[in-house]
Formats: sequence, structure tokens, C-alpha cells
Amino acid sequence: VLTPPPASSVLAACDVTASSRDDLAALFRRIHARADAVHAAGTATVTAAVGASLFDGRFGLAATRPKRLVPMPEFPGDVPDPAWCHGDLLLQICAERPEAAGTVADDLIVPGLRPRWRLDGFRQENGTLPDRRPTARNLFGFREGAGNPDPGDSPLMDRLVWVTDDRDEPAWTVGGSYQVIRLIRFATALWNAEPEPRQEAVFGRRKRDGVPLGHGRETEDFDYSRDPDGLVIPLDAHIRRANPRTAATADNRILRRGYSYRRGLDTTGRPDEGLAFICFQQDVERGFATVQRRLADEALAKYVLTYGGGYFFVLPGVSSAAGDYLGRALVGG
Ligand code: HEM
Repeated sequence: VLTPPPASSVLAACDVTASSRDDLAALFRRIHARADAVHAAGTATVTAAVGASLFDGRFGLAATRPKRLVPMPEFPGDVPDPAWCHGDLLLQICAERPEAAGTVADDLIVPGLRPRWRLDGFRQENGTLPDRRPTARNLFGFREGAGNPDPGDSPLMDRLVWVTDDRDEPAWTVGGSYQVIRLIRFATALWNAEPEPRQEAVFGRRKRDGVPLGHGRETEDFDYSRDPDGLVIPLDAHIRRANPRTAATADNRILRRGYSYRRGLDTTGRPDEGLAFICFQQDVERGFATVQRRLADEALAKYVLTYGGGYFFVLPGVSSAAGDYLGRALVGG
């Protein structure tokens, strides 16, 4: 969640075919053993996150559902394709080399899991800003990452990203995080036909180096109070809607860690490419959902289409040394 994102990733959403609570516990033990071996070898990192559907009647888990974990709702403009939405369990595998991420993903799809959808991603110009925040260039040619909270700031991560023990949540969720995936297709040809100044007005940052319009540095802190009418950064610019940078909206901040993807043509013959938007937050309603509602009618909307993804809850990390395994606090045994 907080480690610098390697250049490649696989998102693998699965349904659980195991039928009893014991079988589910055995499944988590198998996944844990393999993920643990991968971490020990240092070839990739694995996170496992559960979807709302795991808390239906099958395993008697309804009473332990993270409070805000619901199936991802449809937002204005979404065109969901059921084949690319939701899942009982989401595995995210990240590695520097795409083959390594793919091999680990294959290995983690153990008996008891049925693949539902899967998407490979990459981060172009993957790097780190001078202040530690990761950055990459998306398929619209813009740098992403500068507006993120600093993942190295632990008190801030406890406030924005991790479920802490003072939240009104089931005990097992402490140390976990809500993970949102949005599969977003880009209308790249339409975008590329726009002159650069128009593109920059859509995001509110300079294309070349990510500097906020009217400012001097990519990582500069600024506020919008001196530009109330949006003459410098338009009122419908992506960064302005996403984070108005006011005291009242400070707790809506989210940690983004997305990956670009490219995979052949869509059903109309255009390249199917875009962004696997990924973000983490302590409370999905206060974080992602609030931000997404603010983005309705933003200038970027006409160039993108969200067709998949889901809401998930990342299982808290565990220590194998203590005989613990991923998911044990949830399923017991
Ligand atoms: C539709 C595809 C999207 C693209 C191409 C995109 C691209 C960008 C870019 C280029 C930036 C500026 C650099 C940065 O701060 O990282 C940015 C910032 C941001 N985006 Fe997006 N984004 C997309 C979707 C989303 C979605 C779905 C959300 C959340 C609902 C979101 C939330 C944010 C936030 C919170 C910021 C930081 C703004 C700031 O602090 O100034 N983005 N995005």
C-alpha cells in the first residue's frame, strides 16, 4: 500500500468457490504460504483484499463486514461492464518485471478461487519525487503523483489510509485499508487532437513537468483562495475538483497508486487503453466516493469512460513468524 509502486502490476479479481468457513480458512492459508514465499524471494509484493460479496450468507461473515464495504455503486457517467466489476477477493501483485508479476499471479490463483477479471498494468517513467512521493506519466502524457499525501508520513497515513482502533469498525479490520479500483478507458485519439494548453487546463498542471498552472514547482503547496474565479486553474480542472485544498476537504484525501494499461482493441475497434485507477483510504465514503462526486462534470469527463473495478478491503498485514496468516483475524482457525 505504502511502498513505492514497482513498474508492473497484475490485478486479479476472483470469486471464492470454497463452500465452508473451514475451506475458506484453508484457502487463505494457501494464499498466505505462496505470498510469503514470494515476499521472502523479493521478486514481487502481494496484497489481498476482500469484496463485499464475501460477506454474504456463504461463510457466516456478515457480522464482520467492514462498515463501509459495499459493492461499488454506479457514479454518473459510468458504463459498468459486469465482466469487469467486483469480486470476492482481489489480489494485487507488483513487480519490476511484468513476467514476474504474471508468474506470481498464476501461482496465487489456487484451487478454491475462480478468476473473474484480470488486468496487467505498467507505470511509464516510474520514479520518485525529491520528497519521496512516487510519480509516473499516464497515457494522456501527464505526470501523476504530486498531489498525493506523503506515504512516509505515518501519522498522516493513520489519519487518511489505515483503519485505526478508534474507528467504528470490526476489530479485525485495524491495520487494513479500503481499496478502490476504477478501470478507466481513455479516448486517446480525441485527447491527442486537443492543443496542449487545452489539455493543461483540463488537468490544471503543465504537461511537461507537472507544475500547477501559475506556479513554480511540481510539489509546491498552494491554495485556490487567490484564484476564486478559476482564471489560473479553471474551476472544472481535475486537480481543483479532486482536491480543493481547504481545511474542510483535508480528510477526503486519498492515496493513489494507479497503473496504466494497454490491451488490444475495444468492441468499436479503438485501442483499449487507459488507467487502472487504484486508491487507498481509511473510509471509502469519506475518501474516494466524496472525491468522485466532486469530479462529476469535470473537464476531463469527456475523454474517459469508467467500465469496471470495485470496492475492496485490504487485509491487515501479518507476521508469519508468529504463525499468523493473511485473513486469519477474519476467518479464525
Ligand atoms: C480518469 C482518469 C484520471 C486521470 C487521467 C487522472 C490524472 C491525474 C493527474 C495528471 C493528476 C495531477 C498530478 C497528481 O497530483 O497526481 C491527478 C491528480 C489527482 N487525481 Fe486524478 N486522474 C484520473 C482519475 C481520478 C479519479 C477517479 C480520482 C478520484 C476519484 C482522482 C483523484 C485525484 C486526486 C485526489 C488528485 C490530487 C489533486 C491534488 O491534490 O491537487 N483522479 N490526477
